[in-house]
Amino acid sequence: MKDVLILGIESSCDETAVSVVKNGREILSDVIISSCNQHVKFGGVVPEIASRAHATAIDTAYTQALQTAGVSIDDIDAVAVTFGAGLLGALLVGVSFAKAIAYAYHKPLIPVNHIRGHVAAGYLNSDLKPPFITLLTSGGHTAVVQVDSYTHLKVLGSTRDDAVGEAFDKVARVLGIPYPGGPGVERAAREGRPIVPMPQMLKGDKSYDFSYSGLKTAVVNYCHTKTQSGEGFSVPDVAASFQTAALSVLVDKAFRAVKETGYSVLSLGGGVAANGHLRALCETRAKKEGITLYMPEKKLCTDNGAMIAAEGYLQYLYTDNRGDLTLNAAANIPEFIKEYQQ
Ligand code: KG4
Ligand code: ZN
Repeated sequence: MKDVLILGIESSCDETAVSVVKNGREILSDVIISSCNQHVKFGGVVPEIASRAHATAIDTAYTQALQTAGVSIDDIDAVAVTFGAGLLGALLVGVSFAKAIAYAYHKPLIPVNHIRGHVAAGYLNSDLKPPFITLLTSGGHTAVVQVDSYTHLKVLGSTRDDAVGEAFDKVARVLGIPYPGGPGVERAAREGRPIVPMPQMLKGDKSYDFSYSGLKTAVVNYCHTKTQSGEGFSVPDVAASFQTAALSVLVDKAFRAVKETGYSVLSLGGGVAANGHLRALCETRAKKEGITLYMPEKKLCTDNGAMIAAEGYLQYLYTDNRGDLTLNAAANIPEFIKEYQQ
């Protein structure tokens, strides 16, 4: 069978990413130009700055992606682009660019849901095949997803309030850890002990849902109380205590889902899956329970174009999900995992 090359374009947050992926699994190039440094002094992503940075970087990212892959646009079978969810202005840069390329070079255009992209990251450089369970943990979403086939995904449970990555970022702010918060909290936690009591939100219940707003509030209250009383607090200990509470519930529910569905494979996806402690917890548990674990390399857990190309490949092969010049960006996708865009 002829090789299928997909160009994947991602611009939902602060990474301008363009990638060429062969047959949905083999990464030929994976260019990421991040505007992260421009957001540090504001303590979080500033949408307008992110949009402008995308507009500046996207052509370079595209040219480099083709060059590194050693292909020309003529070799590309389809253009896949994140149309949502994310920052609207940021998304629009990628969507407009993808529309222009698809139109000018007569390529099929495939609108990709960012969250499905995080799930599809599991296929990159791996032999992962459905059925399996994905523990999806990003800055905007937290969910346990049942992947029945390459195209059929079912959400078993998700967060009722904040996403786990969002909680990491907010806790980082309270602890004075600069943006991006997640990796900073992980670093601080390495020096600390999980000795501060934390609420165990929805840990023991029967659902696959999560809740992080109470945990975040507990950290805020603890830090304020200790500061006001003059006692102070240990940043590493609070980071370790928060991280342990935040991650253990994820691991418990993900592994329970594998067991209860009768599946034998778990994959991880989303920025928080780059967390070394989460990866270690999953490795230990998988070994103990005889479950096969797929963890995309850390660079593929956070936002990248390759995961969009991987999902685009599946949509190209198995669905008629195609965009045209009317394709628009969507900040939110209410039912966040859909077969198709509309
Ligand atoms: O998937 P992602 O790159 O973007 C979204 O789709 O949201 O995830 C970003 C989130 C941020 O909240 C970031 O703090 C978190 O992933 N994150 C981490 C780590 N690396 C990134 N959280 C905990 N530990 C990490 N090492
Ligand atoms: Zn993401």
